[in-house]
Amino acid sequence: MHINDKSNYKTYLPKEDRYEKTLYNRCGKSGILLPAISLGLWHNFGKYDQMANAEAILRTAFDHGITHFDLANNYGPPYGSAEENFGMLFQQNFKSYRNELFIATKAGYDMWPGPYGNHGSRKYLISSIEDSLQRMNLDYVDLFYHHRPDPNTPLEETAIALYDIVRQGKALYVGISRYSSDETTAMASLLKELNVPFIIHQSRYSLFDRAIENDLLSTLTENNLGCIAFSPLAQGMLTDKYIDRIPENSRAAKSKTYLDITAVNEKLSTIKKLNEIAKKRGQKLHQMAISWLLYQKAITSVLVGVSSSNQLIENLKATQNIDFSSEEIQQIDELTTMFI
Ligand SMILES: NC(=O)c1ccc[n+]([C@@H]2O[C@H](COP(=O)([O-])OP(=O)(O)OC[C@H]3O[C@@H](n4cnc5c(N)ncnc54)[C@H](OP(=O)(O)O)[C@@H]3O)[C@@H](O)[C@H]2O)c1
Repeated sequence: MHINDKSNYKTYLPKEDRYEKTLYNRCGKSGILLPAISLGLWHNFGKYDQMANAEAILRTAFDHGITHFDLANNYGPPYGSAEENFGMLFQQNFKSYRNELFIATKAGYDMWPGPYGNHGSRKYLISSIEDSLQRMNLDYVDLFYHHRPDPNTPLEETAIALYDIVRQGKALYVGISRYSSDETTAMASLLKELNVPFIIHQSRYSLFDRAIENDLLSTLTENNLGCIAFSPLAQGMLTDKYIDRIPENSRAAKSKTYLDITAVNEKLSTIKKLNEIAKKRGQKLHQMAISWLLYQKAITSVLVGVSSSNQLIENLKATQNIDFSSEEIQQIDELTTMFI
């Protein structure tokens, strides 16, 4: 029999050497190791994005030992579509590698209409994880986050919801995101009392946003928690892409994103100066920005977003040089301590 299959679809077989060169860091004092670079699906995995590109990014990630994929209930657009697309691509590519993957999702932002589709109530969190599992066609996630603090729901209520989610087998570990230092201390104490495996804080951290250096990083260390840094490239500003122009199809050029041209222009002179420091280190600016985060002791993993496999491969090269001389640190600090 001769089959003339014109679909050009190739079954995915991950690279056998995928774990050989990858750097993994322990997450706080837990049993979990996370790759130094993890992949976030906030952008580029929604309903209107190219699925072939999304699939190529996920395959490239796994081929390079990236075992940790980060989602949230409302990633898309529209809300939920990143989880749906991930679920479909997971079934087609990674189903037999489920035990090798560490998959996270979150709830805490606006998700469905009415009073129960947002914030931190037990009603919202327990309904949301159920929906996320259905969209991704998974039995459990490895990590479930409360996506942001909710000042109007008692912390105890959110903590008990996280406890129940773990006890019901819907998540193996829990984390929090965007909580302040004091809120983190309070949540850590509640979750410790309940024996919940609380292992990580997801925080915005980059050369252009160093606020967590004030007190959060030391709080995380004191509580044996890992830290995963989101928007490490300040959504693309910490690359050389905007130095000469605003490229078409870049995040700053697109409408309905959280990065605009004014923000880029405000940072342009600092971007150029940082780019010169990176060149002297033999790195691209995006690599130096990631290396600098990995140089920080409290950082477990750097959570990048990419719009192509090439960007991911470029970013992964950052792990080849995560040492900085005191002169380099001083030069970087001169340009960025204003962002602490
Ligand atoms: N917990 C929270 O509240 C929260 C908030 C935000 C994000 N996150 C998580 O963190 C992840 C990463 O956030 P982010 O997407 O803002 O991260 P980011 O890494 O700072 O920015 C990603 C964007 O930078 C550009 N880029 C990346 N690598 C590049 C390279 N090598 N060369 C040129 N441009 C490059 C791409 O934009 P172009 O489209 O311009 O190519 C890419 O989409 C998200 O996916 C999500 O999982 C969490």
